[in-house]
Amino acid sequence: MASKKEEYLGVGLDVGTSRIVIARRNESGYEFQSQLDAFVEVPNSRMTKTVLEKEGIPHLIRDNTILVFGNEAQTFANLFHSETRRPMRQGMLNPDEPDGLNLIKHIIQALASTSRTDREKLCFSVPAPPLGGGDTHSYHQAALRQIVTDLGYEAEPVDEGLAVIYSELEGSNFTGIGISCGGGMCNVCLAYLSVPIFSYSIGKAGDYVDEQAARASGEMATRVRTIKEEQFKFAAQYENNILQAIGVYYEDMVNALVDSLEEAFTRTKKVPRIAKPIPLVLSGGSSVPEGFVDQFKKSLESRKLPVAISDIRQAADPLNATARGALVATLSSM
Ligand SMILES: Nc1ncnc2c1ncn2[C@@H]1O[C@H](COP(=O)(O)OP(=O)(O)O)[C@@H](O)[C@H]1O
Ligand SMILES: [Mg+2]
Repeated sequence: MASKKEEYLGVGLDVGTSRIVIARRNESGYEFQSQLDAFVEVPNSRMTKTVLEKEGIPHLIRDNTILVFGNEAQTFANLFHSETRRPMRQGMLNPDEPDGLNLIKHIIQALASTSRTDREKLCFSVPAPPLGGGDTHSYHQAALRQIVTDLGYEAEPVDEGLAVIYSELEGSNFTGIGISCGGGMCNVCLAYLSVPIFSYSIGKAGDYVDEQAARASGEMATRVRTIKEEQFKFAAQYENNILQAIGVYYEDMVNALVDSLEEAFTRTKKVPRIAKPIPLVLSGGSSVPEGFVDQFKKSLESRKLPVAISDIRQAADPLNATARGALVATLSSM
């Protein structure tokens, strides 16, 4: 008989440009933990070090500086009016950030610690190639696999859009469209009875909104991001020029996403004839603002897809859907 502990084995890991999320099973279902995929450098002093340790804030000492990483990085960045540094960019390891891989390793370690058994199964999400082809992100995938293998896990990658389908579309036997709108990119997957038909990414997502709105309003992108997360909702009119700029670029992002969906169907030669209308699920941090789903529906109204969509809805827990789907994937590949 399987021991109680064994029932809960398996780990889902969502390595995003913006956040790293881990999912595990417990008595009441699922549990999630996350850290921001970002860091800042602060001057090294014994006092700061002591305080960070006391507060349990993840950090690394590096010569004259302390690298504060994870959730507190954004607070520190806002405090010092600086930008956070990001180990990843557009869904992949950031080639301009020499400390990136090392920092990701520490963030994953802070969340996943080490395998609870000899080679516990862990599925980690990976972005799909850009629509129209291009980099398959094989270096990124290999580097992540190495990190989790070093922590003692048996690691398997899972496509991010497919993970959303695993998490949200059990009700339609894993037929439908799963979309994850994150920081660096949006990932889209169409699956028929759990088999992926197409899967791709686009590089317009939350960071794009922040950067463009920052440029238009003369604010720092980190600051725009905070304002967006705390105050933004889709509206006909906006209270100030920062919210207005966010609105403009957010609409642009949604339109690009819907355009890409139309293009993906056109590019895919063998779309199965799906008789029944299929559901579409939106997830990820960028799907959170009020009015997002309606904005998506509005943008889709003017296009024609070769399959009928039954309903368009938001994932039950949009920030954790990818990690949850990656955990579901550990069961199917055991
Ligand atoms: N409440 C919110 N309103 C608007 N955007 C949000 C909110 N919460 C998170 N985001 C945005 O979601 C993006 C991160 O989404 P996430 O799914 O965590 O991304 P990733 O997969 O790239 O790590 C960021 O651009 C962040 O600013
Ligand atoms: Mg993500």
